[in-house]
Amino acid sequence: MNSEYRTKICNVLVIGSGGAGLRAAIAAHHAGCEVLVIGKRIRNDAHTTLAAGGINAALGTVDPEDDWIQHFVDTYEEGYHIGDPRTVEILVKDAPNRVQELVDWGTPFAKTIDGELDQRYFGAHTHRRTCYAGDYTGRAILNTLVSKVEELNIPIIDMTYVSKLLVNTQNGQKQCFGAVGFDINSGGRTVFLTDSVVLAAGGHTRIWRRSSSRRDENTGDAMRLALQAGCKLADMEMVQFHPTGMVHPETLAGTLVTEAVRGEGGRLTNSEGKRYMQDYDSERMELSTRDRVALANYTEIQEGRGSPNNGVYLDISHVDKEVILEKLPRMYRQFMESQMLDISKSPMEVAPTAHYSMGGVVVDPDTHSTGVRGLYAAGECTSGVHGANRLGGNSLAEILVFGKIAGAEAAKFSLDLDMQMRNRQVIKDAIIELDNLTTPGEQLARPLQRAVRDIMWNYCGVVRSGEGLEYALKELMKVKHASEDVDVRPSAEGFSDLALAIDLLGSIDSAEATIRSAIAREESRGAHQRSDFSDTRTSEKVNYTIHLSDGKQKVSKSKVRDLNEKLQNAVDSYEEISVKGRLLE
Ligand code: FUM
Repeated sequence: MNSEYRTKICNVLVIGSGGAGLRAAIAAHHAGCEVLVIGKRIRNDAHTTLAAGGINAALGTVDPEDDWIQHFVDTYEEGYHIGDPRTVEILVKDAPNRVQELVDWGTPFAKTIDGELDQRYFGAHTHRRTCYAGDYTGRAILNTLVSKVEELNIPIIDMTYVSKLLVNTQNGQKQCFGAVGFDINSGGRTVFLTDSVVLAAGGHTRIWRRSSSRRDENTGDAMRLALQAGCKLADMEMVQFHPTGMVHPETLAGTLVTEAVRGEGGRLTNSEGKRYMQDYDSERMELSTRDRVALANYTEIQEGRGSPNNGVYLDISHVDKEVILEKLPRMYRQFMESQMLDISKSPMEVAPTAHYSMGGVVVDPDTHSTGVRGLYAAGECTSGVHGANRLGGNSLAEILVFGKIAGAEAAKFSLDLDMQMRNRQVIKDAIIELDNLTTPGEQLARPLQRAVRDIMWNYCGVVRSGEGLEYALKELMKVKHASEDVDVRPSAEGFSDLALAIDLLGSIDSAEATIRSAIAREESRGAHQRSDFSDTRTSEKVNYTIHLSDGKQKVSKSKVRDLNEKLQNAVDSYEEISVKGRLLE
């Protein structure tokens, strides 16, 4: 046990070294602040690196008729009307600037023969608006941002796990003044004292058994930190299942098979050789929305028309091998290295995988401030953009647009601050909490984490029921109880046990918020499909929110903001594509 700590001081602390965090750091630096970035992995290896297929911006380089209004309509409509219109408007208007900025900073996006940025099809976009760098777009963007941050001499501290946000409450007003973290290798603790914080620590989709996230990332830690600080979470039941994850080998099951495969012409077939998307969305076929394609894949598998390894087939072999190697190099390698499968010759087996948290911390659309003064949030840990279904390629746009806003606003908060109150007791309590966690116990974090993932996969997956969700909550509470006695002992391996134990707590809290919200939403909408409530209900055009009251999660409802006149007119002129044959409609 080591109750000592170092102190580090800065104007703006950024928690998370993925795309949102790094873009926030650059913005805060440009505003004139001392910035510090901390990440729980090593830089260049944040989850952003796994984003494959592209980033959306209505540039109109390939389809000149595209514009931000159409991008707005596509995003809002396909989010089933529970996204926040103002947040979506900001996203679609600013995305072209953020892409251009990346070009200026050196991101190697694919170009057309005319030297314009190329844009590919992604599901449910009216036009081609997804810029890409092969199928390594996230990696290319993250590399660019890391280089920029290093060029600006903004310090990044790697392998540091944040266990608590420091929040002082005075006259009922909460104000964030820093965070406590520890080095995962040495266990050394640091109290970060700061004027403002940007929380950009990702989502919670690793808490499903099949996930496109790697081990120990996206474990809901951002949601736990935010809830404990006094923030609200919204739309936690809205979890995107990507239609195409790998199904074998078991160690790689869930790994993303990018939508770009379908964007480049990939076809889905079942064991009968049928291109079954014609029964689910005959117009858009494989490029329908993710919720529809995921539900279609799930249904085909559930109804016995799946492949030998419980998937469906995704076939790109009719496309020229050179095109595959140029546009889908990662996919080519991924299947060759893991299955000795040549995707230019044979179909892949794929199935839905938990992919993206569409809900998260409630933020003000224009500033990305949370309800806690001095605390801002950006990226996958937030809510507002995607509603009940996210369009592929909008996440990379989201992290840049709102990372920049959150960083600039956090800097403004710092520069305008007259006096920062710290609270010694709050720091002491955070340190004691770490001490209390670093003790021997009867339980191990990994099997409990596995139990959470099984509960979420079995009862809170692509299709849910009230009965299943209630059962899931009961089972989760048993895991929560067991998590109070987890064995954490630092060893030659370092303090990864402690990181795992806190990951487990984040997983449990975010799972609970997801299940409670899923129970509350008695309808089917987008990614939230209830077998016992198969209709979409007008009365449910709301956001479910979660907050802590006396340490317990409480669910409330809040109204979705109305569209302004211009956006309402745009949406009214949108023609709903008829979608036949959905399982639950
Ligand atoms: O399929 C993909 O490449 C994923 C993209 C995204 O989630 O935005």
